[in-house]
Amino acid sequence: MRRQLKDFTPQESSDPAIAMIGGGYYSANALGAKQVIDATRPLVDDALRALASLPSEKPFAIADFGAADGGTSFDLMRHIVRTVRTALPSRAITLTYTDLPFNDFSTVFRRIHGSLDADDPQPLGQESGVFTFASGTTLHRQIFPDQTLTLGFSATAMHYLSMKPGPIADHVHAVGATDEERTLYRDQATSDWTAILLARARELVPGGRLVLANFCVDERGHHLGSTGGVNVFDALAKHWRGLAAANRIWDSEYRAATFQQYYKTASEFVAPFGLDSPVTLAGLRLDHVSTIRTPCPFAAMFRQSGDAAAYAHAYVPSVRSWSQSTFVGALDPARPQGERAAIVNQLYDAYETEVAAAPELHWKDYVHCVQVFSKVQ
Ligand SMILES: C[S@@+](CC[C@H](N)C(=O)[O-])C[C@H]1O[C@@H](n2cnc3c(N)ncnc32)[C@H](O)[C@@H]1O
Repeated sequence: MRRQLKDFTPQESSDPAIAMIGGGYYSANALGAKQVIDATRPLVDDALRALASLPSEKPFAIADFGAADGGTSFDLMRHIVRTVRTALPSRAITLTYTDLPFNDFSTVFRRIHGSLDADDPQPLGQESGVFTFASGTTLHRQIFPDQTLTLGFSATAMHYLSMKPGPIADHVHAVGATDEERTLYRDQATSDWTAILLARARELVPGGRLVLANFCVDERGHHLGSTGGVNVFDALAKHWRGLAAANRIWDSEYRAATFQQYYKTASEFVAPFGLDSPVTLAGLRLDHVSTIRTPCPFAAMFRQSGDAAAYAHAYVPSVRSWSQSTFVGALDPARPQGERAAIVNQLYDAYETEVAAAPELHWKDYVHCVQVFSKVQ
């Protein structure tokens, strides 16, 4: 059942195996991700104060890179637009949501035009002087023309790699890989990170700002889903292995389920900012870096309710909202859709049963590295 390095051909990929669950399911279940975004507001406000004093008549261009269905960042984007509108009443504002081609952009536009929430009195996309767009170009490439982006924002998106650099034999994620396997993922993440920074350096206007909240491994070695208790990725790997052991999935399917992700440390995030490095020479400056831990909101609800079954039934979908596509994408497309759905249901049902049996062992704190960058003037 081990995956062999020699059998593996790396390919740039932005396939459906990365997509969040659509139709609003992602944001409805990603409560912690929204809390992380909301926690960046003071840093965003600092950036907005600096940006308001830049002399420019050009549109104030905002981007949310890797926005998924736009729900988790919606409050922040509305706040940004209102703040800019107050500070610069006559400036046109553009707001672009970027993600991969398979993203559910339809939900993004339904949300910003008010058709998801009938109670939204003033849909963001219909405010006067606000122009909304979407881009399906990967954030590993330049998305906007040179010097046209005023404020870039991104949360929980840049741990995705531009390609899978290799197989992971007995796990589903780089955090559970062997040293040899993890080195390939780290090298890929290093070159992707430099490419991301160089692309943003070209896009930003002089004096422009970039605020990012990225998954990381913190100073204590903690990362999403591994802050004590049962490691989320170990649990997913165990239940996927269980399906293989029961011959419910084929060996090739077992091997194909690997998250195309790597969690960098804070020092890996700052590494490209050496004197005379390409990123520094491109004019990008690192103004702030810190790590934050966002407690699992589902675990907090469980501490109040004590209802193990209800907890498991809420917690597992919050994992499913971002992980399901990796497992669906690993199944042979020749299987009928209903069969693929049944297999993946079995995976998450097994996980839910495990959580319900020992809820106090399961929680999923978010661990992020928050950074602010500016482009030299
Ligand atoms: C976990 S979701 C985060 C969504 C939202 N930003 C948040 O914080 O809740 C990660 C998003 O990043 C997107 N993503 C992954 N790789 C990407 C890439 N190369 N370019 C653009 N978006 C990407 C995924 O499709 C997904 O929508």
